[in-house]
Amino acid sequence: MSSQLHCSRCGTSVSSARTHFDCPTCEGPLDLAPVRPQTTGPALRALFDDRTTVRAVAAADASSGVWRFRELLALPGAPVSMPEGNTPLLTSDVVSRYAGVAELRIKHEGYNPTGSFKDRGMTVAITHACAVGATAVACASTGNTSASLAAYAARAGVPAFVFVPAGRVTAAKLAQTTAYGARVLALRGDFDDCLRLLRDVCQRRGVYLANSINPFRIQGQRTIVFDLLQQFGWRAPDWIAVPAGNLGNTSAFGAALRDAHDAGLIDRVPRLLAVQAAGAAPFAKAFAEGFRERHRVEAETVATAIRIGDPASWDRAVEAIRYTNGVVTAVSDADILAAKRAIDRAGIGCEPASAASVAGVRTLTAAGIIQPDDRVAAVLTGHLLKDVGGPGMEAAVEVDADAQAIEQALST
Ligand code: F0G
Repeated sequence: MSSQLHCSRCGTSVSSARTHFDCPTCEGPLDLAPVRPQTTGPALRALFDDRTTVRAVAAADASSGVWRFRELLALPGAPVSMPEGNTPLLTSDVVSRYAGVAELRIKHEGYNPTGSFKDRGMTVAITHACAVGATAVACASTGNTSASLAAYAARAGVPAFVFVPAGRVTAAKLAQTTAYGARVLALRGDFDDCLRLLRDVCQRRGVYLANSINPFRIQGQRTIVFDLLQQFGWRAPDWIAVPAGNLGNTSAFGAALRDAHDAGLIDRVPRLLAVQAAGAAPFAKAFAEGFRERHRVEAETVATAIRIGDPASWDRAVEAIRYTNGVVTAVSDADILAAKRAIDRAGIGCEPASAASVAGVRTLTAAGIIQPDDRVAAVLTGHLLKDVGGPGMEAAVEVDADAQAIEQALST
């Protein structure tokens, strides 16, 4: 593998054949050079569109909604794929009305193999891990990354371990992670402690780090945007809203929009709306101050997936917001749960953190920043079943197994 990684802070270049991703000179983030496709504009659009035909999808090389954009990816090896991506773009009058726009399009990443958008980055990262001969792979996680890592590592036959904050990860996400065979250490600390300590362990033990500071993860997550733009017929929406925690997706979306524009896939760049939970909103605070400084907070929110106080992909996310003339906002837990209820009751469903995107659209519409006739896409990042029994879920009504009790229960 000959590709290079570059430090955006100090300019150092290193080979991409490595297992951790801090610049050896200044510890800044290492990025992959943009992939410049040989085909661009209408020809590249036509190439991607051809791969969505029934016949093409049936062929293995177009079945993944990540790898079918391979002209825009650095292919690190033979893909470890499920396949992933190709998620639906849904509409709902109920959710559109709730968000306050004429037609909200909902990109549901919960339809990925392990139920979250993480699979898009993980297929690329685990492919890379195999190409560099990694002997073990690891991540720190609020639950979705760990489930995805565990699945893709199992597919590749590589041992995996994860650090999660004890008592803060939903039972479903933990069950997935252990079922796929990863070793789970539940640390008595928060997500930020987990990531800090894991980075250390990976460096010392030469273990492959699969968090989104890994630029191969970001590579794959860019395809959410490519997929979405294609579903919009390459007529870019005005806004793309996304929940924001560790800021991997915000970074990936900014990079994807730049790449799509540079490759002539779209002729205008949508504005990004990154939405944090109010109790875990250091990035929204910094945005409000013009990104003068980096903030860290003690995070607390019902949306456990984005309960992150010290986001790792800060610099790249600032760049993404600046490039797209984007906005960062924070929404309360009550707003998140109300948006989740609207999404659930529309038959779409999502986990709490995902609903932040729709709650954010509603907030910006109410503030007059998003116009009611703007074309808006909101990304749902995880499946409803990721948080069974969690906040916003109602219990069943238990009744005796007899006709009279049933009649009585149904008429109340
Ligand atoms: N939505 C869901 C459902 C998530 O699981 C995450 C992150 C995010 C949004 C935020 O995305 O970090 O790219 O800004 N979950 C990570 C994990 C932290 O470990 O599963 P981000």
